[in-house]
Amino acid sequence: MDRKIISVINQKGGVGKTTTVINLAAGLSMKGKKILVIDLDPQGNATTGLGLSNMTSSDLTIYNVLNGNKKISEVIQSTSFENLHLITSNVDLSGLEVETAGDSRRAFKLKDELTAILNDSRPLYDYIIIDCPPSLSLLTIMALVASHALVVPLQTEFFALEGLTQLMKTIERIKSNLNTTLEIRGILLTMYDKRNKLSNEVESEARNYFKNKVYNTVVPRNVRLSEAPSHGVPVLIYDKVCPGSKAYFSFTEEFLNQDKPVESAA
Ligand SMILES: Nc1ncnc2c1ncn2[C@@H]1O[C@H](COP(=O)(O)OP(=O)(O)OP(=O)(O)O)[C@@H](O)[C@H]1O
Ligand SMILES: [Mg+2]
Repeated sequence: MDRKIISVINQKGGVGKTTTVINLAAGLSMKGKKILVIDLDPQGNATTGLGLSNMTSSDLTIYNVLNGNKKISEVIQSTSFENLHLITSNVDLSGLEVETAGDSRRAFKLKDELTAILNDSRPLYDYIIIDCPPSLSLLTIMALVASHALVVPLQTEFFALEGLTQLMKTIERIKSNLNTTLEIRGILLTMYDKRNKLSNEVESEARNYFKNKVYNTVVPRNVRLSEAPSHGVPVLIYDKVCPGSKAYFSFTEEFLNQDKPVESAA
């Protein structure tokens, strides 16, 4: 089964989605994997975090693909990082939902475009990683319909698990209607503060409930992770030995191991 299209998703804001997209993409590309990041958030944080512009002057954006003005192959841009391509976003994307209101197939638009890339005769990408906005709007539905699997960052703080219930319901609804093979690849605990008892409690609760769906790697709260985006580089390049980088390198390994064929016992 195909596992190439991964959405990083959580409708709660500021939980580490974009940070995870940027650094998973960077980690995988450093391992020689060919990566396409799609910024599906009108905020354009993955765009700027990878060193490109989210100004509205550009029409090389995911918005122009989703509204039918461009083909997806026309808007893929290179970044200054090897093996890492990007489709940018800007605030124009926030108009999409209203502008496409009359189109009954619009939820499938992203999937249709990505299928075209994946069916290309020579495989261009090992993984396509989608950065979702903090909502359960049309954009998120498009991502859920287009994806093979999901990575859910979970901030280790109070209320974190509450929001997950609604996300799980949405995922179930999509699975029963629009994308039956969609799976949760894993839950990544983020912004962990080991001095805070609450972080520990949320971790235990998440592991009790979601069992082995929770990655072993826990991303600590680390100021280097919040500094890197203003330099337009992944933290893995900005400061490759800081605790945040160590966590994202380790997460990259765990992510890759999920796709290793299981060795036979013989
Ligand atoms: N582990 C961390 N330690 C410290 N700061 C972090 C960490 N992870 C992310 N941040 C910072 O917290 C803020 C929110 O992170 P991020 O943008 O990745 O979340 P998000 O879920 O994509 O947010 P949004 O919902 O707005 O898209 C950013 O300023 C980011 O740099
Ligand atoms: Mg974000």
